[in-house]
Amino acid sequence: METLLQEARRQTSDAGVGALLDRILAEPRLHARLINSLSRMEYVGARKMVKARHIDSLDNAGMQHLLEEVGHALRLKRAAIKVNGGSDEGIETYATEHTLAGDAGEGYLQGVDRGCEGLLTGLGLSEPKRSEVNYVLSSLAIEVRAEAFYPVYEEALQRAGAPFSVRSILSDELRHLEEMTTAIAEHLPEGGEAIIEAALKLEDQCFRRWISALRDSLD
Ligand SMILES: [Fe+2]
Ligand SMILES: [Fe+2]
Repeated sequence: METLLQEARRQTSDAGVGALLDRILAEPRLHARLINSLSRMEYVGARKMVKARHIDSLDNAGMQHLLEEVGHALRLKRAAIKVNGGSDEGIETYATEHTLAGDAGEGYLQGVDRGCEGLLTGLGLSEPKRSEVNYVLSSLAIEVRAEAFYPVYEEALQRAGAPFSVRSILSDELRHLEEMTTAIAEHLPEGGEAIIEAALKLEDQCFRRWISALRDSLD
Protein backbone atom coordinates (compact mmCIF):
# COMPACT_ATOMS: atom_id res chain seq x y z
CA MET A 1 0.00 0.00 0.00
CA GLU A 2 2.89 2.37 0.77
CA THR A 3 4.19 2.02 -2.81
CA LEU A 4 0.73 2.80 -4.16
CA LEU A 5 0.56 5.90 -1.97
CA GLN A 6 3.97 7.10 -3.12
CA GLU A 7 2.86 6.64 -6.71
CA ALA A 8 -0.28 8.76 -6.11
CA ARG A 9 1.83 11.47 -4.45
CA ARG A 10 4.21 11.47 -7.40
CA GLN A 11 1.33 11.65 -9.90
CA THR A 12 -0.23 14.55 -7.99
CA SER A 13 2.97 16.59 -8.13
CA ASP A 14 3.63 15.54 -11.76
CA ALA A 15 0.24 16.91 -12.75
CA GLY A 16 1.55 20.41 -11.85
CA VAL A 17 -1.10 20.80 -9.17
CA GLY A 18 1.01 23.03 -6.90
CA ALA A 19 1.62 25.63 -9.64
CA LEU A 20 -2.03 25.54 -10.71
CA LEU A 21 -3.15 26.10 -7.10
CA ASP A 22 -0.75 29.06 -6.76
CA ARG A 23 -2.43 30.72 -9.76
CA ILE A 24 -5.89 30.19 -8.29
CA LEU A 25 -4.97 31.20 -4.74
CA ALA A 26 -3.60 34.51 -6.03
CA GLU A 27 -7.19 35.56 -6.78
CA PRO A 28 -9.49 35.25 -3.73
CA ARG A 29 -12.72 35.10 -5.76
CA LEU A 30 -11.38 32.24 -7.87
CA HIS A 31 -10.01 30.55 -4.78
CA ALA A 32 -13.39 30.82 -3.03
CA ARG A 33 -15.02 29.05 -5.98
CA LEU A 34 -12.36 26.32 -5.93
CA ILE A 35 -12.94 25.72 -2.20
CA ASN A 36 -16.67 25.55 -2.96
CA SER A 37 -15.91 22.89 -5.62
CA LEU A 38 -13.94 20.87 -3.06
CA SER A 39 -16.88 21.26 -0.67
CA ARG A 40 -19.22 19.97 -3.39
CA MET A 41 -16.92 16.97 -3.98
CA GLU A 42 -16.93 16.13 -0.26
CA TYR A 43 -20.74 16.44 -0.28
CA VAL A 44 -21.16 14.24 -3.37
CA GLY A 45 -18.84 11.66 -1.75
CA ALA A 46 -21.05 11.65 1.35
CA ARG A 47 -24.21 11.38 -0.77
CA LYS A 48 -22.74 8.36 -2.58
CA MET A 49 -22.04 6.80 0.78
CA VAL A 50 -25.64 7.30 1.90
CA LYS A 51 -26.87 5.59 -1.25
CA ALA A 52 -24.35 2.72 -1.25
CA ARG A 53 -24.32 1.61 2.37
CA HIS A 54 -26.66 -1.18 3.28
CA ILE A 55 -28.52 -1.12 6.57
CA ASP A 56 -27.04 -4.51 7.54
CA SER A 57 -23.45 -3.32 7.26
CA LEU A 58 -23.58 0.32 8.42
CA ASP A 59 -21.78 0.38 11.77
CA ASN A 60 -20.30 2.99 14.12
CA ALA A 61 -17.19 3.56 11.95
CA GLY A 62 -19.42 3.83 8.86
CA MET A 63 -21.59 6.50 10.48
CA GLN A 64 -18.51 8.39 11.62
CA HIS A 65 -17.04 8.27 8.09
CA LEU A 66 -20.29 9.66 6.68
CA LEU A 67 -20.54 12.42 9.28
CA GLU A 68 -16.92 13.44 8.75
CA GLU A 69 -17.34 13.76 4.97
CA VAL A 70 -20.39 15.99 5.48
CA GLY A 71 -18.29 17.89 8.06
CA HIS A 72 -15.53 18.40 5.47
CA ALA A 73 -18.10 19.79 3.03
CA LEU A 74 -19.34 22.26 5.68
CA ARG A 75 -15.85 23.28 6.84
CA LEU A 76 -14.78 23.93 3.24
CA LYS A 77 -17.99 25.89 2.58
CA ARG A 78 -17.20 28.11 5.58
CA ALA A 79 -13.57 28.48 4.43
CA ALA A 80 -14.84 29.55 0.99
CA ILE A 81 -17.00 32.24 2.62
CA LYS A 82 -14.02 33.42 4.69
CA VAL A 83 -11.79 33.72 1.61
CA ASN A 84 -14.68 35.47 -0.17
CA GLY A 85 -14.50 38.32 2.36
CA GLY A 86 -17.09 36.90 4.77
CA SER A 87 -19.90 36.77 2.22
CA ASP A 88 -21.37 33.87 0.27
CA GLU A 89 -22.10 36.10 -2.72
CA GLY A 90 -21.22 34.18 -5.87
CA ILE A 91 -20.65 30.89 -4.00
CA GLU A 92 -24.13 30.42 -2.51
CA THR A 93 -24.81 26.96 -3.92
CA TYR A 94 -22.91 24.18 -5.68
CA ALA A 95 -24.23 25.29 -9.09
CA THR A 96 -21.78 25.47 -12.00
CA GLU A 97 -21.47 29.27 -11.81
CA HIS A 98 -20.74 29.18 -8.06
CA THR A 99 -17.89 26.69 -8.39
CA LEU A 100 -14.64 26.38 -10.35
CA ALA A 101 -14.94 23.38 -12.68
CA GLY A 102 -17.49 22.06 -10.19
CA ASP A 103 -19.21 19.79 -12.71
CA ALA A 104 -15.85 18.23 -13.58
CA GLY A 105 -15.16 17.83 -9.86
CA GLU A 106 -18.41 15.91 -9.46
CA GLY A 107 -17.55 14.02 -12.68
CA TYR A 108 -14.35 12.84 -10.98
CA LEU A 109 -16.36 11.10 -8.26
CA GLN A 110 -18.90 9.67 -10.72
CA GLY A 111 -16.04 8.40 -12.91
CA VAL A 112 -14.28 6.64 -10.03
CA ASP A 113 -17.55 5.17 -8.80
CA ARG A 114 -18.59 3.86 -12.22
CA GLY A 115 -15.09 2.66 -13.06
CA CYS A 116 -14.87 0.67 -9.82
CA GLU A 117 -18.31 -0.77 -10.49
CA GLY A 118 -16.97 -1.98 -13.86
CA LEU A 119 -13.94 -3.60 -12.23
CA LEU A 120 -16.19 -5.55 -9.88
CA THR A 121 -18.52 -6.94 -12.55
CA GLY A 122 -17.36 -10.41 -13.32
CA LEU A 123 -16.71 -11.19 -9.66
CA GLY A 124 -20.29 -12.43 -9.48
CA LEU A 125 -21.17 -10.36 -6.41
CA SER A 126 -24.83 -9.88 -5.64
CA GLU A 127 -26.52 -7.03 -3.79
CA PRO A 128 -25.98 -5.73 -1.15
CA LYS A 129 -22.40 -7.09 -1.23
CA ARG A 130 -21.69 -5.48 -4.63
CA SER A 131 -22.58 -1.95 -3.43
CA GLU A 132 -20.64 -2.50 -0.25
CA VAL A 133 -17.44 -3.61 -2.04
CA ASN A 134 -17.83 -0.77 -4.55
CA TYR A 135 -18.11 1.69 -1.64
CA VAL A 136 -14.89 0.33 -0.10
CA LEU A 137 -12.94 0.18 -3.39
CA SER A 138 -13.94 3.62 -4.68
CA SER A 139 -13.45 5.18 -1.23
CA LEU A 140 -9.99 3.63 -1.07
CA ALA A 141 -8.98 5.13 -4.42
CA ILE A 142 -10.41 8.54 -3.46
CA GLU A 143 -8.76 8.50 -0.02
CA VAL A 144 -5.38 7.69 -1.61
CA ARG A 145 -5.79 10.83 -3.75
CA ALA A 146 -7.01 12.89 -0.78
CA GLU A 147 -3.88 11.81 1.08
CA ALA A 148 -1.76 13.00 -1.87
CA PHE A 149 -3.77 16.16 -2.75
CA TYR A 150 -4.49 17.79 0.61
CA PRO A 151 -0.78 18.16 1.61
CA VAL A 152 -0.06 19.88 -1.75
CA TYR A 153 -3.06 22.16 -1.14
CA GLU A 154 -1.97 22.82 2.46
CA GLU A 155 1.48 23.92 1.23
CA ALA A 156 -0.14 26.25 -1.31
CA LEU A 157 -2.38 27.70 1.45
CA GLN A 158 0.67 28.39 3.58
CA ARG A 159 2.60 29.97 0.69
CA ALA A 160 -0.37 32.27 0.05
CA GLY A 161 -0.90 33.03 3.76
CA ALA A 162 -4.51 31.79 3.51
CA PRO A 163 -6.73 32.24 6.58
CA PHE A 164 -7.49 28.51 7.05
CA SER A 165 -5.87 25.09 7.01
CA VAL A 166 -6.89 21.65 5.74
CA ARG A 167 -4.70 19.75 8.22
CA SER A 168 -7.62 18.45 10.29
CA ILE A 169 -9.43 17.25 7.13
CA LEU A 170 -6.23 15.46 6.08
CA SER A 171 -5.96 13.67 9.41
CA ASP A 172 -9.56 12.39 9.04
CA GLU A 173 -8.78 11.22 5.48
CA LEU A 174 -5.72 9.32 6.70
CA ARG A 175 -7.87 7.44 9.19
CA HIS A 176 -10.47 6.67 6.49
CA LEU A 177 -7.69 5.36 4.25
CA GLU A 178 -6.53 2.98 6.98
CA GLU A 179 -10.11 1.76 7.48
CA MET A 180 -10.66 1.22 3.74
CA THR A 181 -7.31 -0.60 3.43
CA THR A 182 -8.38 -3.05 6.15
CA ALA A 183 -11.89 -3.40 4.70
CA ILE A 184 -10.75 -4.11 1.13
CA ALA A 185 -8.46 -6.90 2.35
CA GLU A 186 -11.48 -8.50 4.04
CA HIS A 187 -13.76 -8.08 1.00
CA LEU A 188 -11.27 -9.11 -1.68
CA PRO A 189 -8.96 -11.66 -0.09
CA GLU A 190 -7.95 -13.13 -3.46
CA GLY A 191 -6.78 -11.10 -6.43
CA GLY A 192 -7.41 -7.93 -4.43
CA GLU A 193 -4.07 -6.29 -5.30
CA ALA A 194 -4.73 -6.37 -9.06
CA ILE A 195 -8.19 -4.85 -8.60
CA ILE A 196 -6.81 -2.13 -6.29
CA GLU A 197 -4.10 -1.28 -8.84
CA ALA A 198 -6.68 -1.07 -11.63
CA ALA A 199 -8.89 1.15 -9.42
CA LEU A 200 -5.99 3.51 -8.70
CA LYS A 201 -5.11 3.65 -12.38
CA LEU A 202 -8.63 4.64 -13.41
CA GLU A 203 -8.81 7.09 -10.50
CA ASP A 204 -5.63 8.73 -11.83
CA GLN A 205 -7.29 9.22 -15.25
CA CYS A 206 -10.34 10.78 -13.57
CA PHE A 207 -8.09 13.02 -11.45
CA ARG A 208 -6.15 14.23 -14.51
CA ARG A 209 -9.42 15.04 -16.30
CA TRP A 210 -10.53 17.13 -13.32
CA ILE A 211 -7.17 18.96 -13.13
CA SER A 212 -7.23 19.77 -16.83
CA ALA A 213 -10.84 21.03 -16.56
CA LEU A 214 -9.68 23.22 -13.67
CA ARG A 215 -6.82 24.54 -15.80
CA ASP A 216 -9.18 25.19 -18.75
CA SER A 217 -11.58 27.09 -16.49
CA LEU A 218 -8.87 29.74 -15.97
CA ASP A 219 -8.41 30.49 -19.67
FE1 LIG B 1 -13.38 14.13 3.00
FE1 LIG C 1 -12.64 10.51 3.67
